[in-house]
Amino acid sequence: MSRFFLPLLITLTLHFVYAVSYVDNGITDEYTVFIVSAVSNNPKPLRIHCQSGDDDLGFHDIKSGENFNWSFRLNLISSTRYYCHFWWDSKEKSFDVFYYETVALKCQRPGPFTCVWIVRPEGFYLSNGNATWYKEYDWA
Ligand SMILES: *[C@@H]1O[C@H](CO)[C@@H](O)[C@H](O)[C@H]1NC(C)=O
Ligand SMILES: *[C@@H]1O[C@H](CO)[C@@H](O)[C@H](O)[C@H]1NC(C)=O
Repeated sequence: MSRFFLPLLITLTLHFVYAVSYVDNGITDEYTVFIVSAVSNNPKPLRIHCQSGDDDLGFHDIKSGENFNWSFRLNLISSTRYYCHFWWDSKEKSFDVFYYETVALKCQRPGPFTCVWIVRPEGFYLSNGNATWYKEYDWA
């Protein structure tokens, strides 16, 4: 094997892995994350800013009873992580709203996996979209 061939092969392989990790690859599971506001619109509605390492979803104001949602596929090494910053009524909080080793275990099918966060005055609850709610965080 030429001494140029192996580095070239490694480089091409890394490019391939990188490319398929960060596009909709059609292979890995698809997830949809919902952030639902269950806090008052007074003095101001819930404000969120969610992002992953390579995807900034921007700032959003969510009125009571409404939601912000987005869908993605896991990257091939399952390291996909989204975190959000939340502001409401002089409080703020920030945490991972999606991470394969923690949150994803509580997301449910059918169709794409669904991960539902409800933001209440007393804290943050995660559900599979059905009846079971897990309180995960306080505001403080
Ligand atoms: C998800 O968000 C879109 C806007 O991006 C909205 O039109 C849609 O109603 C939301 N889905 C649900 C189930 O509320
Ligand atoms: C919730 O449960 C109902 C009845 O068991 C089922 O039909 C529905 O698909 C479930 N929804 C989710 C998001 O898991």
